[in-house]
Amino acid sequence: MQTGIPFYNLAPMHGTIWAEMADAFQNVYGSCQFVLGQAVKNFEHAYAQLNQVKYAIGVSSGLDALLLALKACGIGQGDEVIVPANTYIASILAICHVGAKPVLVEPRPDTYNINPELIEQAITPHTKAVMPVHLYGQACEMDAIMQIAARHGLKVIEDNAQAHLAAFKGKLTGSWGDANGTSFYPSKNLGALGDGGAVTTSHDELANRIRLLRNCGSLVKYENETIGYNMRLDELQAAFLSVKMRYIHKWTAERQQLAALYQQLLAGIDDLILPITHTQATHVYHLYVVRTRRRDALQQYLAAHQIGTLIHYPIPPHLQRAFRHMGWQKGDFPIAEELAATCLSLPLWIGMTSEQVERVAAVVHKFYST
Ligand SMILES: Cc1ncc(COP(=O)(O)O)c(C=O)c1O
Repeated sequence: MQTGIPFYNLAPMHGTIWAEMADAFQNVYGSCQFVLGQAVKNFEHAYAQLNQVKYAIGVSSGLDALLLALKACGIGQGDEVIVPANTYIASILAICHVGAKPVLVEPRPDTYNINPELIEQAITPHTKAVMPVHLYGQACEMDAIMQIAARHGLKVIEDNAQAHLAAFKGKLTGSWGDANGTSFYPSKNLGALGDGGAVTTSHDELANRIRLLRNCGSLVKYENETIGYNMRLDELQAAFLSVKMRYIHKWTAERQQLAALYQQLLAGIDDLILPITHTQATHVYHLYVVRTRRRDALQQYLAAHQIGTLIHYPIPPHLQRAFRHMGWQKGDFPIAEELAATCLSLPLWIGMTSEQVERVAAVVHKFYST
């Protein structure tokens, strides 16, 4: 009897670091300091180094990181922000929360990342920023995006929630933009044991503004310089993240090996489109996403063989009820709609074995041969 393969399983990863995580808990518990203490400071320092930026500011989630980055860049009411039409909803929510208007741009049909060639035609006199999203773990074409932004005086805010340690032309994602948001949601490549996020930046002034904004507008207790939020990363999550960060290079390589095995085993199936990585980008495979016209049937077939899958994402943002007021219609972003109708994420997690990847691939082959 073969056991099933879940879409995602944190248990093997967490099993290997249990003792270090327990120590981290004990240290914070013993310190009795649970908010903005030494654990957050240590994590911010190490995370900035990891990302080759001057500053990392720990915050409460990826959505909040993007919101604070936009706000610190001075983006608000009446401004437009260019963002890919195929992204997780949070990228667009952050733009809405600061009062700006999201302007959607189609992705490239091969890499699924924002198409730089379409950015320029979406720019209006109200455009203030571009938010590239390194979707599924692949770096966007950041050099082209930075050049367009420089030509038009736009800020760049990378959504790096899915792409810790990916790079374009050797430069890490999260280090290109003015201020960039990332997420430590538990299933992310670097995940906390709850919610968390960070803004990365190399600008002194932006770093200061974000530190103020995340902490009720205050750096000195009971002195409030601006109207801020409570969007702090807490000490326990920072301590857990510091442990996990020791393994991030190893885990990234493991993700890439599992993806390479899928690429090899699934090659050559008609009607199955495998992930394509831009020649100058790296992909850290937060998700391994294939595409097929028979997506729903394949998903059901895999489920019948106890193999879990997910769809990232079944409804593109412009067709979500939350955005009814924007007036977007079906057909407005055909590539994003096609992706939503055909994409399927296969299991990929730390501790997944080659035998498990082989089994998933074998069941996929069986589906296409029947
Ligand atoms: C692309 C993208 N942006 C933003 C977020 C928001 O992160 P969080 O869930 O930590 O708010 C996520 C993850 O959920 C994401 O995948």
